[in-house]
Amino acid sequence: MKKILLVGSEARGHCIAETLKRSATSCDVVCFGSSDNPGIKKVTSAYEVGKLDDLGSIVVFAKAQKVDFAVISPELPLSVGVVDALEKAGMPSVGPLKKLAQLESSKSFTRDLLEEFNIFGNPKFKVFKNNEGLAEWVKEVGQFVIKPDGLTCGKGVLVQGDHFASYEEGIDRTETLIKKDGKVVLEEKLVGQEFSLISLCDGDHLLHFPAVQDHKRAFVGDEGPNTGGMGSYSMADGSLPFLQESDIKASRSINEQVAKALKKKFGMDYKGVLYGGFIAVKDGVRLIEYNARFGDPEAINILPVLKSNFVKVCEAVIDGTLDQIVPEFLEQATVCKYIVPEGYPTSAVKDKLVDISKIDTSKVKIYFASVNEKENGLYLAGSRAIALVGTDPDLYKAEEKVETEIKKITGPVFHREDIGTKELIEKRIGILRGIRG
Ligand code: AMP
Ligand code: GLY
Repeated sequence: MKKILLVGSEARGHCIAETLKRSATSCDVVCFGSSDNPGIKKVTSAYEVGKLDDLGSIVVFAKAQKVDFAVISPELPLSVGVVDALEKAGMPSVGPLKKLAQLESSKSFTRDLLEEFNIFGNPKFKVFKNNEGLAEWVKEVGQFVIKPDGLTCGKGVLVQGDHFASYEEGIDRTETLIKKDGKVVLEEKLVGQEFSLISLCDGDHLLHFPAVQDHKRAFVGDEGPNTGGMGSYSMADGSLPFLQESDIKASRSINEQVAKALKKKFGMDYKGVLYGGFIAVKDGVRLIEYNARFGDPEAINILPVLKSNFVKVCEAVIDGTLDQIVPEFLEQATVCKYIVPEGYPTSAVKDKLVDISKIDTSKVKIYFASVNEKENGLYLAGSRAIALVGTDPDLYKAEEKVETEIKKITGPVFHREDIGTKELIEKRIGILRGIRG
């Protein structure tokens, strides 16, 4: 029986572990996580808690467990080279080598890569290392976005109109960031509808998952601060209600071209998840950013509907035989919603009991994130707590299933009631129609 190491212990990791376990190929999963996840504990035979950038400890654990391969869930270990370290110790991974993981860990790397290989999808952008030409560039481009070059957990991007108002303020904030980080990416502000197109890649071939739309703002109506993602939905046909077939084709093609470009540039195979964050704009699709891992929550939409044998899919990523896998998905829409502690994301309550015992687990799936299990129940640990996902051929019925069950949860928590509802989705369709005419 294959033994698989999961690195990471969020709800996404819980979902990855569960998807491995329900594969037609039986396997043993062990986890190296940053905290105890009660859901992952139930489906793993060994569990170690440590720092996810402590590569030495991860390798020692993997060797002791004699794992056949690893699946890396979050970005931090990828960005510091966990895949390189495991490979050196003789264990392959579903996850890119450190050099290739720059796709997520450096925004300028990705923009430059698209430019170098003539891949359509970049907005107007410029990398600044000092303020030379800054004021002129900003005037020319119109509304703009400021991006620190490195990882910021989805919370570092400053958008004009949302995070700063005037050009002067934007220039000030850019100069401050240059002083701090030495490098800042400025981009034209894109207007449209964002979506995630996630593909698994073996270096040469890609397996595309259904498109997903995440909701980053904390509160109903897309109000409030940005979060790690409050919930997301996908459709039975693999597209999204506001997208055209050409948008899906274009985003898949960008993922394919990027995999090829990486191979050409480094002579290395990108083996892992290519998560394109795209935006449908007036005249097609643009790339917002890449992630080198599954999305959280997006994984919780797309893995539960994967019919293909996930263990075999992972092995094909490692062996370079992904073209021999027929990707099969249940024809089901999915809606995922997170419950989060009151005060999240700025001042989340902690160490409070949350009761999920009334949930009918035959109606929804539950994935644990930032919660601690104690003798008398589950305690909030200060970040996104628990994800619920409902599936149904009909999107709005999937939403109803989640909403019915999530309301049974008691404790100092909240969620976004509007994710996956007809009202919000029709609003989204209307916005893009307005932009596209
Ligand atoms: P990130 O931290 O890279 O995940 O970006 C956070 C959010 O910033 C994205 O989800 C977008 O909503 C927004 N964003 C990033 N780049 C742009 C852009 N060029 N135009 C408009 N919004 C952007
Ligand atoms: N869904 C946002 C992220 O995974 O970064």
